[in-house]
Amino acid sequence: MLLRVVTVAGDATGEAELARALSLRDDVDLLFRCVDRVELLASLRSDPIDALVSVGLPTWLDREITDEARARGIASLGVASNDMDRTLMQRLGITLVEAAPGAIVAWALAPGEGPMAPVRMPVGAKRGRLLAVWGSKGSPGRTTIAVELAAQLALQDDATLLIDADSYGGDVAQMLGVTEDLPTILWAAKLAAKDELDAGRFAIDLRRAGKAGPVLMPGLTRSELWPDVSAHAWRRVLETATSEFSFVVADVGFCVEPATDLYTGDDGRNRMARSTLECADRVVAVFRADPIGIKNFLRATDQLLDLVSRERLLVVANRVRDKEQRQVAELIRTNLGIRPVAYVPDRPAQHHRAILSGESLTRSAPGCDAAAAVRAVATAVAPAAKPSGFLSRLVSR
Ligand SMILES: Nc1ncnc2c1ncn2[C@@H]1O[C@H](COP(=O)(O)OP(=O)(O)O)[C@@H](O)[C@H]1O
Ligand SMILES: [Mg+2]
Repeated sequence: MLLRVVTVAGDATGEAELARALSLRDDVDLLFRCVDRVELLASLRSDPIDALVSVGLPTWLDREITDEARARGIASLGVASNDMDRTLMQRLGITLVEAAPGAIVAWALAPGEGPMAPVRMPVGAKRGRLLAVWGSKGSPGRTTIAVELAAQLALQDDATLLIDADSYGGDVAQMLGVTEDLPTILWAAKLAAKDELDAGRFAIDLRRAGKAGPVLMPGLTRSELWPDVSAHAWRRVLETATSEFSFVVADVGFCVEPATDLYTGDDGRNRMARSTLECADRVVAVFRADPIGIKNFLRATDQLLDLVSRERLLVVANRVRDKEQRQVAELIRTNLGIRPVAYVPDRPAQHHRAILSGESLTRSAPGCDAAAAVRAVATAVAPAAKPSGFLSRLVSR
């Protein structure tokens, strides 16, 4: 049998090597080497293809492509060289294979058997946990919950990093009272793009928020700088951060609309949020527990659920008024089929004081009911966290 293959170049060098090896084989017909989303979709729809092999993962290879392939009986195979690509490929339903052409043919002829049974990667085994904090428009309290969650996790494990990834204008540094110029996500993205972001750089350049607080990576100083964080660099930032920290909490802002640029498939201003949500081990979805907040949240969850499976979702009700918890719980359960994991009470005066003092409630008022509610979120995302002492030499600001 002649195996008809299309290759996709995420990693151009690796793809070129595999394509050369495949083209030398009698039992393979290498139809097409693809570097473009629109071309690939057109080819899937019109060419007689048996298998699609992505070497590395281009940012434009998305679920629409793997769904199209599956609908047409085309196998989607992937060769990954790092944990992040492995995780993303598995989430997209791409079967991980080794780069050897013989093995790809063997897999395609006998899927799930023989030497090329899907490689089961210990996803998450060596990585810290990436926790994305999202919420719909209307300031439901994403940044507040992200700051408090990171502060709670930092008490358990000092290798906790808080990243401001809101491409529409982040407030994390201001909320923590940081006034000095610290390295931002732009700094991290630039180093990551050159493969120069590592534990040493984190230790030398970043600072903790307070003595026992999380290590802080502030956001864009001007929101129009978002184009400087490329899709590739952002993935590398997340990959490096999760390989060096036990917990990485990212405030991803509100907007998760997919790409409008069909040609490149690039998600533009929303790419940081979308790729963080796709990679996250858990997504903390925050809503403001009043009629407008609940409406905005339920409308926006359609788009969220295109990116995040329900099992990874933890819903948090924020600004819950006294005696309304049961009503809020019932509304969310009926409309979304998920119960909130925590109900953070509406405490404007406490939050106002915390912002003025530049400290989290977790640190300034650990005994208050709002801090206790966020502790429930920390327990839900990190049930068995163990202290590591890692990066403890980072000085406080
Ligand atoms: N549980 C709460 N009780 C009272 N005020 C809150 C609560 N959570 C957030 N806030 C306030 O709501 C405002 C918006 O919060 P923020 O976290 O900046 O929202 P977002 O990041 O979603 O835009 C802030 O002034 C914050 O202090
Ligand atoms: Mg915010």
